[in-house]
Amino acid sequence: MKPYDLKEIVSSDKNHLWHHLTQHKPLQSTDPMVIVEGKGMRVKDINGREYLDAVSGGVWTVNVGYGRESIANAVRDQLVKMCYFANSAGNIPSIQFAERLIEKMPGLSRVYYSNSGSEANEKGFKLVRQLAAMKNDGKKHKVIYRDRDYHGTTITTLSACGQSQRKDQYGPYTPGFVEIPHCLAYRAANGDDPDYGVQAAKELERVILEEDPDTVGSVCLEPITAGGGVIVPPEGYFETIQEICRKYGVLLHMDEVVCGMGRTGKWFGYQHYGVKPDIVTMAKGVASGYAAISVTVTTEDLFNEFLAEPSDKLSYFRDISTFGGCAGGPAAALENMRIIEEENLLDNVNQRGAYLMDRLHELKDKHPLVGDVRGKGLFVGADLVKDRNTREPVDESVAAAVVADCLRQGVMIGRTNRSFAEYNNTLCLSPALICTNDDIDEIVSAIDIALGNLSQ
Ligand SMILES: Cc1ncc(COP(=O)(O)O)c(C=O)c1O
Repeated sequence: MKPYDLKEIVSSDKNHLWHHLTQHKPLQSTDPMVIVEGKGMRVKDINGREYLDAVSGGVWTVNVGYGRESIANAVRDQLVKMCYFANSAGNIPSIQFAERLIEKMPGLSRVYYSNSGSEANEKGFKLVRQLAAMKNDGKKHKVIYRDRDYHGTTITTLSACGQSQRKDQYGPYTPGFVEIPHCLAYRAANGDDPDYGVQAAKELERVILEEDPDTVGSVCLEPITAGGGVIVPPEGYFETIQEICRKYGVLLHMDEVVCGMGRTGKWFGYQHYGVKPDIVTMAKGVASGYAAISVTVTTEDLFNEFLAEPSDKLSYFRDISTFGGCAGGPAAALENMRIIEEENLLDNVNQRGAYLMDRLHELKDKHPLVGDVRGKGLFVGADLVKDRNTREPVDESVAAAVVADCLRQGVMIGRTNRSFAEYNNTLCLSPALICTNDDIDEIVSAIDIALGNLSQ
């Protein structure tokens, strides 16, 4: 990389970059953040200021932490040897990573590569559409998704998006996507009922029957909803979802783009709930952001549906993702997985996750603004409310002020952002899987101070 002049680079950012999820007007009078270095849990900005990153690169991605030379070396070595070939041919790391991945996913056996979470989910939707076309004259083509879930940024993944504000102004959407209610006990009228999980799951059956079971191909769900407010499914929820899927011949598609690769303390979020999905998608933590890679994994049964005589010109999965053939992605993913195993990071997630949850409960005891804390492993959220009794959410400016105050203190935390008009009120924490109790203390202390400053 060429040496750069600090002022020039910032002005070049202002003149040429169009940042994600950013209103640029305020940047006319302030400078954008430019991140230049990262090591372990910490990143440094262009002015030399260091931050503790409690959100793994902003969006649950850098699971094994920054500055991993062994991943960089694995990618470099692979790129020098063989950087790319379209994935109609195999390459060594993609084959080896597929095998290692499948060892962690009993019941699943086929691995399809692409390069973003949105794209991995689109593959899942395309499989459903094509299967319907091949077997049912296109009838069993609908995809059910859930309120508050997010599956990507393309028009079709937004068609499967349960976050109203994210969808605003980008329609019209792809037909054949149908919503079911969320399963957030804290915000459900019957959320205190011990049977709430089963009742919430039965909404799936209600909608399948309303739509006609012969038209419903799959249901796509996040195991634990991420950007929709860190929603851990209530007891009995996924078991009931699985039963309903089997009853009506509906494929279960689990979106593990955030939960996958250890974030929740198991390799995959769905593995907490004993379900057997037909399709699993993953992206962010697969290579911890060291290379762009996403994966759609399926059962052998689903794969077999696409086997046909070559004279049948249409009945194979006629899909390609150019960058699904990049060999650097699976090379990074192999090394990323080796690190998680060698450093026992799943154990660390479970232990540090329990500590983080305890510390957040202390915050809840201290600050009436914290209405609910929830999560699994190193994936937690704090729902901020105006009033504990009514559970009325705070305005998003309050959550934004807490995030900004933490940043001023040198700690990066996240929040539900431009997802809903009324529920942009959840603080989100997802530190790297390597974090220590000291890191957690620093994160919680920053939030404690920020919440205290609000009430002054
Ligand atoms: C659950 C979930 N699925 C899919 C996606 C989309 O992934 P990408 O941004 O890589 O397309 C995201 C992104 O945040 C996500 O949180």
